[in-house]
This record gives sequence, C-alpha cells and structure tokens, in this order.
Amino acid sequence: MREIQVDLAKIQANYRQLKALVAPSEVMAIVKANAYGHGMHEVAQALEDISVDALGVADLEEAIALRAAGIKSRIMCWILSAEDDFEMAAEQGIELGVSNHAVLEAALAAGVKQIHIKVDTGLGRAGFARSQWQEVFQKLSGKTIGLFSHLSNTSEAEDLNQEQLFLEAEQVALAAGVKLSQRHLAATAGALSYPSMRYEMVRCGIGLYGLNPWEDRGYEEYKLQPVMRAVSQVVNIKRVPAGQGVSYGYRYRTEKETTLALVPFGYSEGMPRIAVGAKVLIAGKLFVISGRVAMDQFVVDVGDHQVSLGSEVVIFGDPAKGEPSAEELGASAGTINYEIVTRIGGRAKRVYL
Ligand SMILES: Cc1ncc(COP(=O)(O)O)c(C=O)c1O
Repeated sequence: MREIQVDLAKIQANYRQLKALVAPSEVMAIVKANAYGHGMHEVAQALEDISVDALGVADLEEAIALRAAGIKSRIMCWILSAEDDFEMAAEQGIELGVSNHAVLEAALAAGVKQIHIKVDTGLGRAGFARSQWQEVFQKLSGKTIGLFSHLSNTSEAEDLNQEQLFLEAEQVALAAGVKLSQRHLAATAGALSYPSMRYEMVRCGIGLYGLNPWEDRGYEEYKLQPVMRAVSQVVNIKRVPAGQGVSYGYRYRTEKETTLALVPFGYSEGMPRIAVGAKVLIAGKLFVISGRVAMDQFVVDVGDHQVSLGSEVVIFGDPAKGEPSAEELGASAGTINYEIVTRIGGRAKRVYL
C-alpha cells in the first residue's frame, strides 16, 4: 500500500560517479541519519561491496551499529559528547571528528587512533574557534591527524572565505608540528563546485542519494540518479458533485462533478502536512494534491482521468522519468529534499531493489 523503494545499484553508480567527478580525491560516503532515510545498514553494505573509501555518520552510536553489522570500511563520526564510549571507538577503529578539548582529551586517553580536528571556518556550529587553533594544535604536536571543516553554502564569496580560513588552520597546525593525513572541507555542493576545495577527501551525502544539493540551480550535468522512490496506490475512488469540500478545513472544493482518489500516505509517513501545490503521478499523469494532507492519507481530484483502485501513485522519484522530485515536494512545503527523504517512512515499507 505504501513503499519506499531504494535502488542500491543507483547508490553504487552515484558513488562511482562522484569519485570520477572529484578524482583523485577520496570520497567519504555520508550515511548518517539512517542514510538520509535510505537505510544505513543496507546503504553502507552496498558501498562496502564496491570498496568505499570511508563512511561518515554523525554519532558514535551510528558508527558502532555499523561495526556491529559487520561493516569493516573506515568509519568516521563527529557529533560527540565527552561521555561517549571512546574505548569502544578505539577498539573498533572508529575515527573521530573532534570539536572541543573535553572530547579531545577523552579520545586521546582512550587511545583513539585516528582523530580529525574540526575547525570552525565560519559555519558557527561545531569546530574549534579560530582563537583555539594554536592551543589545540600545540597539544597534538608530533601527531598525525585529519583536518576538516564544513561550508555554510551561503554564497561563493562566503565559501571562498571559509577556504582561506581552512588554509590558515592548516598553516597553524603545520607550524605546531602536527602532521596532516587528510584534509576535507567540501560536502556535495562544495565538492562539485570548487576543485580547489577537494583536497584529499570530500564528504558526500545528498549527491550519493542522487539529489540536488542546491536550491537555486540544477544539477543534471553531474548525472546523479535519485535513489529513492516513494510510492503508494489509490485505495478509494468516488464521483462527487461540484462544491464538494475536501479534507480538514475544506482547503479545496471541487469546481465541477469529478472523481476523488484517496491515497493512504499521510504526514505519519513524512508527507508534509503543509505541502501546498505538491504534485503526484497517478496512472501516468501529474495531479496536484487536493486539500490538507492528513495523518494517514491525502486526496487527489483526478477529474475524468482513468484512475482505478490500485493505480500506482508516485509521491516522488526520478524527474527524468516524469515523476515528481523530492526537491519539488520539499519546495511545496517550504523545505529541502534533504528533509523530505530523511523524514519519509512511518508505516511505509522500505524495499530494496
Ligand atoms: C560535517 C558534514 N559533512 C558532510 C555532510 C554531507 O553533506 P551533503 O549531504 O550536502 O553532501 C554533512 C551533512 O549534513 C555534514 O554534516
């Protein structure tokens, strides 16, 4: 009745494509947050099968779960608390992205082998502030570490500014006698836009899932294919007269006699309640959803189009095949494709192709 279809071969194809686009840099595949809703274990395994350079997650728990599932590839995580189990991280060869002294001390004491120091070059989130760089790199003098940061994607000028600060951090580290194993700054958007920011590695999430990292430009030239399709089916059809109110608050009223199709995919499945003007594909035709999305369902006025019980409804998928995109659904709800795919699920079955 409701399926989230994930094509693992497309993940592998996108990974290979990203590798080719940024060669010779390595590509860390970001599989945090359940692989942006695509299924962390399945995606990690599909990538390990093609010798992924490294996997990236946010929390140590995610990294440990990957090891417990038998994943042997390099794994790095970077949202850490000083109370995390760093002995476990050391034992399991998990690499840590460190943003403060408390975590650094705990990680060193536990014997974590590979530490990547995160420097804040302007995003204002995690990372050592510029005023702390000298001290932290002095503490690590003689050691070999990774150095990383994350772009704000505000504008090209801001990104270039961050790159300059990143290079400054590198100089501070080298002057303090730190050796750098890998530098990584760019996520998908930066990796595709700025060759100079690829360094030894880039960290790609959204591109791996075949989705557009930008809101204000296309990405077709990169030949990345959407990996996820959210599909449902028509479970009820009825003919109604003109003037029929549809769903809570009657945000929609029929203008003439028409057919209403019911689709059992609601905000419980991650279909945004506030989606306005979102289109779905039913029996080969795009229709705007009618009225409010409810917890379990939404309604589509299909006019006189030939729709039957059981007709497939594509909520989003591959726009190259005429299907609505996760990006369009996001735009209809004032959000981005990242949030759409990460939240999608609820009672929908995840099916791997
Ligand atoms: C530190 C870090 N690196 C890389 C990524 C991947 O970003 P993207 O999905 O835009 O490629 C993220 C995602 O939020 C991140 O937090």
